[in-house]
Amino acid sequence: MSKRTVSVWTDNRFWRRSAAWVTGFSLMLLIWLTFDSISQITMGSAEDLKNGVTKRIPSPTVINHKITYEMSDKRGHEVPVIGEKEQFFGRDDWSEEEANELLRLGKLGFQAKNCINCHTILGNGAYYAPDLTKAWLDPKWDNMGFLGYPTKEEGIAAFLQDPTTYAAHSRKMPKLGITPEEAKGLVAFLKHASSIDTNGFPRNFGKITGAVNAK
Ligand code: HEC
Repeated sequence: MSKRTVSVWTDNRFWRRSAAWVTGFSLMLLIWLTFDSISQITMGSAEDLKNGVTKRIPSPTVINHKITYEMSDKRGHEVPVIGEKEQFFGRDDWSEEEANELLRLGKLGFQAKNCINCHTILGNGAYYAPDLTKAWLDPKWDNMGFLGYPTKEEGIAAFLQDPTTYAAHSRKMPKLGITPEEAKGLVAFLKHASSIDTNGFPRNFGKITGAVNAK
């Protein structure tokens, strides 16, 4: 009896082996991606910031620095750029511990007052009010002369405590009973959020804020 030649494509062993290799490769890839993501989203330290080490999520001490949003031709979108020292509520020497505490206060306030019931931040939340991811960098604060306050942080803090008085749009933010201390924490939280490298999200920020708040 002559031996029949079996095509490799109909051979069970070929498919079994392929399945094992593909599963093994995917598993390795997943493990590698998990570790890569963890390292990408790990918050940088004050030391990193001092040494000019760029992290996607910089240390809370980034509040001691000027933050701008600049077009990166290489990446094809805007990226936050951490600049020289700048005062934040009268100081530019907030320690890592102090800055962390301010941010914690801000995060607690953000959750307690349910800001994402109306706003989005880092992709989470509702679409009633503007995205807050880069709210610190919104050119409207400069255009509105910091609402008559000497600094941007004081202007935003005043807005948060009394949003109807400083309303910029016909769709208004209600007064949420935010204390001056909470407002300070919230502004620190927003300033830190604006320094996070979000791959250019939200897109065309600063050019479409008018559309979001269309009257
Ligand atoms: C009930 C809905 C609602 C809630 C809750 C709310 N906001 Fe607002 N917020 C708005 C609306 C509407 C606007 C736009 C009105 C304006 O700018 O006058 C706004 C504007 C803002 C702005 C200005 C954004 C920009 O770039 O123009 C900031 C900052 C802000 N809110 C922060 C917060 C924070 C922080 C919280 C939680 C403590 C919060 N909001 C809770 C509705 C809300």
